[in-house]
Amino acid sequence: MKHKEIYFDNNATTKPLQEVREEVLKVMDSEFGNPSSAHSTGKRARKHLALAREQLSLLIGSDISKITFTGSGTESNNMAFYSCTRDKSNGCQILTTTVEHSSIHKMCNFLKLNGVSVNKLEVNSDGLIDLNELKNAITNSTSLVSVQWVNNETGVIQPISQIAEICRDMGVPLHTDAAQAVGKMEMNIQELPIDFLSLTGHKFHSPQGVGAIYCKEKYLLAPLLFGGFQEEGFRPGTENVPGIVGMGKAAEIRRKDLADLISKMKDLRDRFEAMVLDFVPGSKVNGNLKNRVCNTSNIMFSGIDGRRLVKELDQNGVRCSQSSACTNFETAPSYVLCAMGLSEEEAYSSIRFSFSVENTYDEIDSAVKIIRESAEKLKN
Ligand SMILES: Cc1ncc(COP(=O)(O)O)c(C=O)c1O
Repeated sequence: MKHKEIYFDNNATTKPLQEVREEVLKVMDSEFGNPSSAHSTGKRARKHLALAREQLSLLIGSDISKITFTGSGTESNNMAFYSCTRDKSNGCQILTTTVEHSSIHKMCNFLKLNGVSVNKLEVNSDGLIDLNELKNAITNSTSLVSVQWVNNETGVIQPISQIAEICRDMGVPLHTDAAQAVGKMEMNIQELPIDFLSLTGHKFHSPQGVGAIYCKEKYLLAPLLFGGFQEEGFRPGTENVPGIVGMGKAAEIRRKDLADLISKMKDLRDRFEAMVLDFVPGSKVNGNLKNRVCNTSNIMFSGIDGRRLVKELDQNGVRCSQSSACTNFETAPSYVLCAMGLSEEEAYSSIRFSFSVENTYDEIDSAVKIIRESAEKLKN
């Protein structure tokens, strides 16, 4: 029997909204111009980029001049790190955390090979860093502090405005990976002393393969690619106009009803969690419950192998995952959960469910029933 698909893996990616798809198609149909062309077709494409920049800027409270489009959140993260280390002498230091996305960890590995020293702050059992440890770890050679705004596996929110104040007072640039924060919380980036912010459209219903980096002072930014003068030379290569237009539209839709959308996702998540904790003995939520983004729930099912549970749920139509999409095919337990002090077994028994505005209460009820039955089956 084919099961109805219930998609609870929205931190991996979200489905582009109908209006977003229509806008993308419209641009591909009639506005195919290269934004760098001098003629009218090119000019129209440039206008689309300008509108998308404005739509995205409004969502995060930025000035349009501070936004550079990129191809992904990964690229934006890499770019921030490269920008702050490229012209430094050997031995400059990056300060980040143990629970960042793989695009940060892998960039750190690369930089280490090039003489940069990397220091990673630990998190407590709630998934939060210690602000005193941050203060003590900053040295004269620190070229960048990078702390994610929201964790992709647990949804835990770091105290970014306090972190930003510490960095400002100590004169060190701050980057935040906001891939899982943008569109899921109110933000006004201009009010915070944050120097770089990475985001990616596909976490808020835009097409995949399009992202952006916010940079407070553009002179701090350095291109990772070499070529033309697109994005003022900060991101050479012809722009992905349809993708950028889609991200702009998705940002506009998000911003219009942001408070309501956040509240809807939170209601869905809270109902889901309450039901699972009620119906599945031995289940427990991982991560700080208070400082958590509205759509994410990471649940440990004690005594059950989460890998088998994810498979069983998938066979019954419920899509969720063990850790992040970027590490799903690794055979190790979640490094985020292990960093929070969970044992390997506990990490393996944990599953991430992440909701979107397109999910429904009916889906929650059906999924919980399937989870309950699957958990019982695997326990036996
Ligand atoms: C926290 C975080 N950072 C960065 C990324 C990378 O974004 P992208 O998939 O656009 O490269 C993701 C996406 O999985 C993420 O969750």
